[in-house]
Amino acid sequence: MTADAPRPVVRVSDLHKSFGEREVLRGIDLEVQAGEVVCVIGPSGSGKSTLLRCVNLLEQPTSGRIELLGAEVTDPDVDIDRVRTHVGMVFQQFNLFSHKSVLENCTMAQRTVLRRSRAEADRVALANLERVGLADRAHAMPAQLSGGQQQRVAIARALSMDPQLMLFDEPTSALDPELVGDVLGVMRDLADAGMTMLVVTHEMAFAREVGDRVVFMDDGTVVETGPADEVIGAPREERTRTFLQRVLDPTHQSPTG
Ligand SMILES: Nc1ncnc2c1ncn2[C@@H]1O[C@H](COP(=O)(O)OP(=O)(O)O)[C@@H](O)[C@H]1O
Ligand SMILES: [Mg+2]
Repeated sequence: MTADAPRPVVRVSDLHKSFGEREVLRGIDLEVQAGEVVCVIGPSGSGKSTLLRCVNLLEQPTSGRIELLGAEVTDPDVDIDRVRTHVGMVFQQFNLFSHKSVLENCTMAQRTVLRRSRAEADRVALANLERVGLADRAHAMPAQLSGGQQQRVAIARALSMDPQLMLFDEPTSALDPELVGDVLGVMRDLADAGMTMLVVTHEMAFAREVGDRVVFMDDGTVVETGPADEVIGAPREERTRTFLQRVLDPTHQSPTG
Protein backbone atom coordinates (compact mmCIF):
# COMPACT_ATOMS: atom_id res chain seq x y z
CA MET A 1 0.00 0.00 0.00
CA THR A 2 1.40 3.41 -0.96
CA ALA A 3 1.09 6.51 1.17
CA ASP A 4 -1.08 8.33 -1.36
CA ALA A 5 -3.53 5.47 -2.01
CA PRO A 6 -7.04 6.78 -1.39
CA ARG A 7 -8.25 5.88 2.08
CA PRO A 8 -11.43 3.89 2.19
CA VAL A 9 -14.50 5.61 3.60
CA VAL A 10 -14.95 2.68 5.98
CA ARG A 11 -12.25 0.29 7.12
CA VAL A 12 -13.13 -2.30 9.73
CA SER A 13 -10.26 -4.48 10.96
CA ASP A 14 -10.60 -7.57 13.15
CA LEU A 15 -13.76 -6.25 14.79
CA HIS A 16 -15.07 -8.23 17.73
CA LYS A 17 -18.23 -7.51 19.69
CA SER A 18 -19.61 -9.45 22.62
CA PHE A 19 -22.80 -9.00 24.57
CA GLY A 20 -21.98 -10.57 27.92
CA GLU A 21 -20.61 -14.03 27.24
CA ARG A 22 -21.93 -14.12 23.71
CA GLU A 23 -19.55 -13.06 20.92
CA VAL A 24 -21.74 -11.88 18.04
CA LEU A 25 -18.96 -10.41 15.85
CA ARG A 26 -15.91 -12.65 15.65
CA GLY A 27 -13.24 -10.82 13.69
CA ILE A 28 -14.83 -8.81 10.88
CA ASP A 29 -12.75 -7.18 8.15
CA LEU A 30 -14.54 -4.88 5.73
CA GLU A 31 -13.74 -1.91 3.51
CA VAL A 32 -15.98 0.46 1.61
CA GLN A 33 -14.31 2.73 -0.93
CA ALA A 34 -15.64 6.15 -1.93
CA GLY A 35 -18.57 5.80 -4.32
CA GLU A 36 -18.91 2.10 -3.66
CA VAL A 37 -22.15 0.30 -2.75
CA VAL A 38 -21.50 -2.69 -0.50
CA CYS A 39 -24.45 -4.92 0.38
CA VAL A 40 -24.35 -7.14 3.46
CA ILE A 41 -26.50 -10.26 3.35
CA GLY A 42 -26.88 -13.16 5.73
CA PRO A 43 -29.29 -14.99 7.99
CA SER A 44 -31.09 -13.38 10.88
CA GLY A 45 -28.88 -13.22 13.97
CA SER A 46 -25.62 -13.32 12.02
CA GLY A 47 -24.54 -9.90 13.34
CA LYS A 48 -25.37 -7.60 10.42
CA SER A 49 -27.14 -4.93 12.50
CA THR A 50 -24.47 -5.09 15.18
CA LEU A 51 -21.81 -4.50 12.53
CA LEU A 52 -23.65 -1.45 11.20
CA ARG A 53 -24.23 -0.16 14.72
CA CYS A 54 -20.52 -0.49 15.47
CA VAL A 55 -19.65 1.36 12.25
CA ASN A 56 -22.01 4.16 13.25
CA LEU A 57 -20.65 4.13 16.80
CA LEU A 58 -23.98 3.23 18.32
CA GLU A 59 -22.27 0.18 19.83
CA GLN A 60 -18.83 0.12 21.39
CA PRO A 61 -16.67 -2.60 19.82
CA THR A 62 -15.11 -5.11 22.22
CA SER A 63 -11.90 -5.02 20.18
CA GLY A 64 -10.65 -4.15 16.71
CA ARG A 65 -10.32 -0.98 14.68
CA ILE A 66 -12.84 1.11 12.82
CA GLU A 67 -11.76 3.92 10.54
CA LEU A 68 -14.46 6.19 9.24
CA LEU A 69 -13.88 9.06 6.82
CA GLY A 70 -10.17 8.97 7.56
CA ALA A 71 -10.53 9.07 11.36
CA GLU A 72 -9.84 6.14 13.62
CA VAL A 73 -13.06 6.24 15.60
CA THR A 74 -11.98 3.48 17.97
CA ASP A 75 -9.31 5.92 19.22
CA PRO A 76 -10.71 7.39 22.48
CA ASP A 77 -9.38 10.85 21.60
CA VAL A 78 -11.33 11.21 18.38
CA ASP A 79 -14.32 13.57 18.19
CA ILE A 80 -16.96 10.96 17.49
CA ASP A 81 -19.83 13.43 17.18
CA ARG A 82 -18.02 15.30 14.44
CA VAL A 83 -17.45 12.10 12.45
CA ARG A 84 -20.99 10.85 13.04
CA THR A 85 -22.41 14.09 11.59
CA HIS A 86 -21.19 12.93 8.18
CA VAL A 87 -22.78 9.48 8.37
CA GLY A 88 -26.46 9.02 7.51
CA MET A 89 -28.31 6.02 8.86
CA VAL A 90 -31.66 4.59 7.78
CA PHE A 91 -33.23 1.89 9.93
CA GLN A 92 -35.90 -0.70 9.37
CA GLN A 93 -38.20 1.36 11.60
CA PHE A 94 -38.20 4.87 10.21
CA ASN A 95 -37.94 6.64 13.58
CA LEU A 96 -39.63 9.85 12.44
CA PHE A 97 -40.93 12.23 15.10
CA SER A 98 -44.68 11.65 14.90
CA HIS A 99 -45.62 15.08 16.29
CA LYS A 100 -43.47 16.93 13.74
CA SER A 101 -44.25 17.55 10.09
CA VAL A 102 -42.29 15.89 7.30
CA LEU A 103 -40.43 19.15 6.70
CA GLU A 104 -39.61 19.63 10.39
CA ASN A 105 -38.34 16.06 10.59
CA CYS A 106 -35.92 16.96 7.82
CA THR A 107 -34.79 20.31 9.27
CA MET A 108 -34.36 19.65 13.02
CA ALA A 109 -30.88 18.12 12.95
CA GLN A 110 -29.75 20.58 10.28
CA ARG A 111 -30.67 23.44 12.61
CA THR A 112 -29.32 21.99 15.87
CA VAL A 113 -26.24 20.10 14.66
CA LEU A 114 -25.21 22.02 11.54
CA ARG A 115 -26.60 25.34 12.85
CA ARG A 116 -28.28 26.18 9.57
CA SER A 117 -30.80 29.00 9.42
CA ARG A 118 -34.44 28.08 9.04
CA ALA A 119 -34.47 29.28 5.43
CA GLU A 120 -31.36 27.29 4.53
CA ALA A 121 -32.58 24.15 6.32
CA ASP A 122 -35.95 24.40 4.58
CA ARG A 123 -34.29 24.83 1.21
CA VAL A 124 -32.06 21.77 1.71
CA ALA A 125 -34.91 19.66 3.10
CA LEU A 126 -37.23 20.53 0.22
CA ALA A 127 -34.56 19.68 -2.33
CA ASN A 128 -34.08 16.28 -0.71
CA LEU A 129 -37.82 15.66 -0.39
CA GLU A 130 -38.01 16.44 -4.10
CA ARG A 131 -35.26 13.91 -4.68
CA VAL A 132 -37.27 11.15 -2.96
CA GLY A 133 -40.49 12.22 -4.72
CA LEU A 134 -42.23 13.76 -1.69
CA ALA A 135 -41.87 17.53 -2.01
CA ASP A 136 -45.67 17.81 -2.15
CA ARG A 137 -45.98 16.13 1.29
CA ALA A 138 -43.65 18.51 3.14
CA HIS A 139 -46.42 19.74 5.42
CA ALA A 140 -48.01 16.35 6.09
CA MET A 141 -47.58 14.54 9.40
CA PRO A 142 -45.81 11.17 9.29
CA ALA A 143 -48.97 9.25 10.23
CA GLN A 144 -50.62 10.56 7.06
CA LEU A 145 -48.02 8.80 4.92
CA SER A 146 -47.61 5.18 3.92
CA GLY A 147 -44.70 3.20 5.33
CA GLY A 148 -42.85 3.52 2.05
CA GLN A 149 -43.32 7.29 2.04
CA GLN A 150 -42.17 7.51 5.67
CA GLN A 151 -39.04 5.58 4.79
CA ARG A 152 -38.38 7.95 1.90
CA VAL A 153 -38.73 10.87 4.35
CA ALA A 154 -36.19 9.14 6.60
CA ILE A 155 -33.82 8.97 3.62
CA ALA A 156 -34.43 12.66 2.80
CA ARG A 157 -33.78 13.54 6.44
CA ALA A 158 -30.45 11.70 6.36
CA LEU A 159 -29.48 13.29 3.03
CA SER A 160 -30.24 16.75 4.40
CA MET A 161 -27.16 16.40 6.63
CA ASP A 162 -24.92 16.12 3.52
CA PRO A 163 -23.61 12.67 4.50
CA GLN A 164 -20.41 11.28 3.03
CA LEU A 165 -21.62 7.76 3.83
CA MET A 166 -25.09 6.25 4.07
CA LEU A 167 -25.80 3.16 6.17
CA PHE A 168 -29.02 1.25 5.59
CA ASP A 169 -30.25 -1.55 7.88
CA GLU A 170 -32.93 -3.54 6.06
CA PRO A 171 -34.75 -0.38 5.01
CA THR A 172 -37.54 -2.22 3.21
CA SER A 173 -38.21 -5.19 5.46
CA ALA A 174 -40.97 -3.48 7.49
CA LEU A 175 -42.84 -2.44 4.33
CA ASP A 176 -45.78 -3.94 2.52
CA PRO A 177 -44.48 -5.58 -0.66
CA GLU A 178 -46.06 -3.03 -3.00
CA LEU A 179 -44.18 -0.19 -1.25
CA VAL A 180 -40.72 -1.75 -1.43
CA GLY A 181 -40.02 -0.76 -5.03
CA ASP A 182 -40.24 3.01 -4.48
CA VAL A 183 -37.75 2.88 -1.61
CA LEU A 184 -35.34 0.68 -3.56
CA GLY A 185 -35.73 3.07 -6.51
CA VAL A 186 -34.64 6.00 -4.34
CA MET A 187 -31.64 3.98 -3.12
CA ARG A 188 -30.74 3.05 -6.66
CA ASP A 189 -30.82 6.74 -7.67
CA LEU A 190 -28.54 7.56 -4.75
CA ALA A 191 -26.10 4.86 -5.81
CA ASP A 192 -26.18 6.15 -9.39
CA ALA A 193 -25.41 9.63 -8.08
CA GLY A 194 -22.22 8.27 -6.52
CA MET A 195 -23.20 8.00 -2.86
CA THR A 196 -21.03 5.68 -0.76
CA MET A 197 -23.40 3.13 0.76
CA LEU A 198 -23.26 0.17 3.14
CA VAL A 199 -26.58 -1.64 2.90
CA VAL A 200 -27.89 -4.57 4.91
CA THR A 201 -30.65 -6.07 2.80
CA HIS A 202 -32.73 -9.15 2.07
CA GLU A 203 -33.44 -7.88 -1.43
CA MET A 204 -31.15 -10.10 -3.49
CA ALA A 205 -32.13 -8.58 -6.85
CA PHE A 206 -31.24 -5.13 -5.49
CA ALA A 207 -27.94 -6.38 -4.03
CA ARG A 208 -27.03 -7.99 -7.31
CA GLU A 209 -27.94 -5.04 -9.52
CA VAL A 210 -26.94 -2.08 -7.38
CA GLY A 211 -24.25 -3.57 -5.16
CA ASP A 212 -20.67 -3.29 -6.36
CA ARG A 213 -19.71 -5.86 -3.79
CA VAL A 214 -21.63 -8.25 -1.60
CA VAL A 215 -20.55 -9.47 1.83
CA PHE A 216 -22.14 -12.67 3.11
CA MET A 217 -22.12 -12.94 6.91
CA ASP A 218 -22.97 -15.95 9.02
CA ASP A 219 -22.54 -16.46 12.73
CA GLY A 220 -20.51 -13.31 13.34
CA THR A 221 -18.00 -13.79 10.53
CA VAL A 222 -17.63 -12.75 6.91
CA VAL A 223 -17.93 -16.04 5.04
CA GLU A 224 -17.56 -14.69 1.53
CA THR A 225 -17.12 -11.34 -0.17
CA GLY A 226 -16.72 -10.36 -3.79
CA PRO A 227 -18.39 -8.74 -6.78
CA ALA A 228 -22.18 -8.87 -6.39
CA ASP A 229 -22.64 -11.00 -9.48
CA GLU A 230 -20.18 -13.59 -8.24
CA VAL A 231 -21.33 -13.89 -4.63
CA ILE A 232 -25.02 -14.06 -5.56
CA GLY A 233 -24.73 -15.64 -9.00
CA ALA A 234 -21.92 -18.12 -8.37
CA PRO A 235 -21.10 -18.36 -4.66
CA ARG A 236 -17.92 -20.19 -3.74
CA GLU A 237 -18.91 -21.22 -0.21
CA GLU A 238 -21.43 -23.90 0.66
CA ARG A 239 -22.93 -21.76 3.45
CA THR A 240 -23.56 -18.93 0.98
CA ARG A 241 -25.24 -21.34 -1.46
CA THR A 242 -27.50 -22.75 1.25
CA PHE A 243 -28.53 -19.26 2.38
CA LEU A 244 -29.23 -18.06 -1.15
CA GLN A 245 -31.28 -21.15 -1.93
CA ARG A 246 -33.41 -20.42 1.10
CA VAL A 247 -34.00 -16.75 0.34
CA LEU A 248 -34.32 -17.04 -3.43
CA ASP A 249 -36.67 -20.03 -3.27
CA PRO A 250 -38.82 -19.77 -0.14
CA THR A 251 -40.50 -23.10 -0.95
CA HIS A 252 -37.13 -24.82 -0.56
CA GLN A 253 -37.18 -26.70 2.75
CA SER A 254 -33.90 -26.95 4.56
CA PRO A 255 -33.50 -29.60 7.30
CA THR A 256 -33.20 -26.85 9.94
CA GLY A 257 -36.31 -25.05 8.70
N1 LIG B 1 -27.99 -5.21 22.67
C1 LIG B 1 -27.88 -6.56 22.60
N2 LIG B 1 -27.75 -7.29 23.73
C2 LIG B 1 -27.60 -8.63 23.66
N3 LIG B 1 -27.58 -9.35 22.54
C3 LIG B 1 -27.71 -8.67 21.37
C4 LIG B 1 -27.87 -7.25 21.35
N4 LIG B 1 -27.98 -6.86 20.06
C5 LIG B 1 -27.90 -7.98 19.31
N5 LIG B 1 -27.74 -9.06 20.11
C6 LIG B 1 -27.57 -10.45 19.65
O1 LIG B 1 -26.53 -10.47 18.70
C7 LIG B 1 -26.81 -11.39 17.66
C8 LIG B 1 -26.71 -10.68 16.34
O2 LIG B 1 -27.76 -9.76 16.24
P1 LIG B 1 -27.95 -8.76 15.01
O3 LIG B 1 -26.70 -8.00 14.83
O4 LIG B 1 -29.19 -8.00 15.27
O5 LIG B 1 -28.12 -9.79 13.80
P2 LIG B 1 -28.81 -9.55 12.37
O6 LIG B 1 -28.95 -8.09 12.17
O7 LIG B 1 -27.88 -10.21 11.41
O8 LIG B 1 -30.13 -10.25 12.43
C9 LIG B 1 -28.19 -11.96 17.94
O9 LIG B 1 -28.06 -13.19 18.58
C10 LIG B 1 -28.79 -10.94 18.87
O10 LIG B 1 -29.73 -11.54 19.73
MG1 LIG C 1 -30.59 -6.94 11.76
